[in-house]
Amino acid sequence: MPSFYETSHGRAYNSEANTFLTSEAGRALAGQVNLILTSPPYPLAAPKAYGNKNGKEYTSELLEIFSAAIPLLAPDGSMVVEIGNAWEKGVPEMQTLPVETLLQIKSELNLALCQMFVWENPNKLPGPATWVNVKRVRVKDSFTHIWWYATTPNPKANNRNVLTPYKGGMERLLGSKKYNRGTRPSGHSVGEGFLVRNQGAIPSSVLSYTNSVEAKEYVDWCVQNDLPRHPARMPQKLAEFFINLTTEPGDLVFDPFGGSNTTGRVAQNLDRNWIVTEMSENYWHGSKGRFLDSINISEDTI
Ligand SMILES: C[S@@+](CC[C@H](N)C(=O)[O-])C[C@H]1O[C@@H](n2cnc3c(N)ncnc32)[C@H](O)[C@@H]1O
Repeated sequence: MPSFYETSHGRAYNSEANTFLTSEAGRALAGQVNLILTSPPYPLAAPKAYGNKNGKEYTSELLEIFSAAIPLLAPDGSMVVEIGNAWEKGVPEMQTLPVETLLQIKSELNLALCQMFVWENPNKLPGPATWVNVKRVRVKDSFTHIWWYATTPNPKANNRNVLTPYKGGMERLLGSKKYNRGTRPSGHSVGEGFLVRNQGAIPSSVLSYTNSVEAKEYVDWCVQNDLPRHPARMPQKLAEFFINLTTEPGDLVFDPFGGSNTTGRVAQNLDRNWIVTEMSENYWHGSKGRFLDSINISEDTI
């Protein structure tokens, strides 16, 4: 299968995911992928331009694609799937489909659930509008579900690669060296090691990143070339977190639902190799704006 563009580290395929996965190019990757990092379409009541399925059809399409993708994983590889919340049409009631789908991915594909994460977007606009802004009976829905799976409970992982700066309170404790030693009401025992300054704090499983202030080159490129800006881009920091946590330089990252190719760009920045599929040609043309430093772009290829 010919690629749409290539860089020193990656290949972009304008293809429906399953078509790629069952092709020779896809099957040749068996056992070689260290991380599948992806954000499939969410089961939205008001579909985005790229179309969003719902109900049983939603779950079965994802299961079909992920069951073809899992054989690509190296024995210690991981799969990280991000799915947002969905609401019923016409009533202020949430769907359970996103969580049911995530559960079925685990059970039907016989995967270990390494950890569940929440991605909170602090800049998310209030919604669903009818219930939050107009009737004022719900609060702003501002998080998505991220489940980290693997074929073993012990995939490659190192939290030293995702340490964050210490926050003010901890910085003060590390400076003063004064704290109450002993067992807390929660049962946690706080001992000597607590005040050792390491290279940073271990992050929590609630990740808070905004996607409104990044990818300026991408946005400018789409505007200049009259291309649609992808409506559901993942923040680069989110991709960075999981790529750093579960892979090393030189490893291979795969994203079957590439969108604007955030995954490829971040993998490239972190010296990882990447393969990404996306079925919309327009989004691929837009994603070239992320790689103006890496690919040859002539007028006729826009
Ligand atoms: C939520 S978006 C991914 C956004 C991406 N993570 C980013 O940062 O830009 C999902 C994407 O999957 C694509 N898509 C949906 N079904 C697909 C399929 N069966 N094969 C390949 N791409 C698909 C859609 O066109 C859409 O761009």
